[in-house]
Amino acid sequence: MATNTLAKPPAQTCILVTGGAGFIGSHTVVELLNAGYSVVVLDDLSNSSAESLARVRQICDLPETGPGSERLQFVQASILDRDALDTTFAAHDISGIIHFAGFKAVGESVQKPWEYYWNNVAGTLVLVDVARQHGVKSIVFSSSATVYGDPDQVPITEMAEKHDATNPYGQTKSMLERILSDLYVGDPEWNVVLLRYFNPIGAHESGLIGEDPKGIPNNLVPYVAKVAVGKLPEVGVFGQDYPTPDGTGVRDYIHVVDLARGHVAAIDWMAGRVGTGCADDPYSLPGDAAPDGSRRGVGVFNLGTGRGSSVLDVVHAFERACGKEIPYVMKPRRAGDIAENYASCDKARTELGWVAEYDLDRMCEDSWRWQSNNPDGYAS
Ligand code: WQD
Repeated sequence: MATNTLAKPPAQTCILVTGGAGFIGSHTVVELLNAGYSVVVLDDLSNSSAESLARVRQICDLPETGPGSERLQFVQASILDRDALDTTFAAHDISGIIHFAGFKAVGESVQKPWEYYWNNVAGTLVLVDVARQHGVKSIVFSSSATVYGDPDQVPITEMAEKHDATNPYGQTKSMLERILSDLYVGDPEWNVVLLRYFNPIGAHESGLIGEDPKGIPNNLVPYVAKVAVGKLPEVGVFGQDYPTPDGTGVRDYIHVVDLARGHVAAIDWMAGRVGTGCADDPYSLPGDAAPDGSRRGVGVFNLGTGRGSSVLDVVHAFERACGKEIPYVMKPRRAGDIAENYASCDKARTELGWVAEYDLDRMCEDSWRWQSNNPDGYAS
């Protein structure tokens, strides 16, 4: 079977977005639709809401039925469901995949390692097996800066040594990077991009979609947002004795819309519309161009801003965004946390033509608009 190509214009191209009802997935679906692509979302809704896709239609002015509605389709299924995947690939002319679907809670992964390896690793193996049987061999994978572990130095480049993740969630990301890279080594028709996210936060400027974690948020910004909206009493700051400017942990927070646009840039790169290849680092296998000009090979890119912000920087930025004081209390360090990480993004800028646009204040303003309009997330 001929390999489906991404070299066609976006208006003739359908992208399968697994986990597309989730936080980063739904924002990426918006940017794909804005770029003219058609999208099929496959999501089991185990950690997301179909309401997010109704909001995506609203943002992109897509009708629920009739002409134009077909540009966004939804399949409720797990990536482990081979029959559902087979039916989906048979029913849609899918040219490429953006793969978000996976469990992603660090702490939970320590308690439930089997579930994380089964869902994330076995699920991805089923996904790519069905895809290749349908001639689809282009995949953008949602990886994470967690694969670097505690970095030897910052800013972190794509050539930095990968260290063992301190939890099964992070291990699944490292394993899947290796698995997807080996697909290309075994079959050079594969077209793989590994996007290593730093800390995605914020929300679409409309306030209609955003981060909606279940229960008590593990991550800083959704927790701060819940305090700001009155759902939680105060922020616990995990550690004030790190070797950082104010003693609290430093991370590279990136606006989720910037992150989403990085995925569209990755599709353009795989289509051969931008960039020349990544011969400059061991984690990217330079690959070659297919006869139609689309790329084949493995590209690895950090998606961050290149700037580090401390926990207290985030708290104060959120106070400026919501116009209220955010109560916080100092607590002991959280097990497994590192002091500091932020990205070098030179490679994404030169190869993908992508640069993050939004600063921390804008991230917090957009996060606050989402949270204040939706105090109980999509449930409200
Ligand atoms: C950020 C900073 C905490 C909560 C994790 C995953 C990573 C990725 C992003 C999926 C740290 C501090 C946090 C709180 C706090 N997820 N903090 N009080 O740990 O950098 O990364 O989420 O891909 O893989 O590891 O993000 O938001 O949990 O923490 O002080 O209530 O905020 O110590 O310094 P993290 P985070």
